[in-house]
Amino acid sequence: MAGLRSRFSVDTMIVSEFKRVRGQYEITTDPDRIDLDAVHAYLTRSYWAEGISKDLLTKAIAGSLCFSLFDGGRQVGFARVVTDRATFAYLCDVYVLEEYSGRGLGKWLIEELQSHPDLQGIRRFVLVTRDAHGLYARFGFQPLQNPGGYMEIVRPDIYKLAPER
Ligand SMILES: CC(C)(COP(=O)(O)OP(=O)(O)OC[C@H]1O[C@@H](n2cnc3c(N)ncnc32)[C@H](O)[C@@H]1OP(=O)(O)O)[C@@H](O)C(=O)NCCC(=O)NCCS
Repeated sequence: MAGLRSRFSVDTMIVSEFKRVRGQYEITTDPDRIDLDAVHAYLTRSYWAEGISKDLLTKAIAGSLCFSLFDGGRQVGFARVVTDRATFAYLCDVYVLEEYSGRGLGKWLIEELQSHPDLQGIRRFVLVTRDAHGLYARFGFQPLQNPGGYMEIVRPDIYKLAPER
């Protein structure tokens, strides 16, 4: 039996380069451009991924479609989409460095990631936020229509409880 890779055309594999430029800023999905130290430094202190190890973040990034925001050579923002690139997507780890906030970069990041070719026609695109509902609402995200239908296993302290991962 043919392997999974050979049963799909190149068009369905994720090979395309995604790059957007606005003045001095750039958004790219190139995984080789991700500044892991910078992204880890931010996320491990964030309210949602506090204590995540660099190894675990590296693994998460490898399995995700990631959008990096640069000011010249400096990574100043990030967004990660966990997705099968066909039916489902989960947006997480969104940030813009505080010194760059309020310049429309967060909105630009969400707008551009939504235009990515591999995120078109997604049946369910979800996210969880503490207080940025207003940001996402302008891009079509709404509160769960059927919260009673959602189930989850959540271990909010797992990064701190198992820091060796
Ligand atoms: C949220 C974040 C990515 C927004 O990026 P930004 O570049 O500062 O935001 P923008 O300049 O593009 O503007 C965001 C818009 O969303 C609105 N907004 C709603 N909730 C917001 C929130 N919690 N934080 C920031 N903006 C928010 C802003 O008021 C603004 O609206 P406006 O254009 O009408 O003034 C950035 O502030 C950030 O990294 N915050 C800390 C990390 C975080 O909370 N990430 C989101 C986790 S779900």
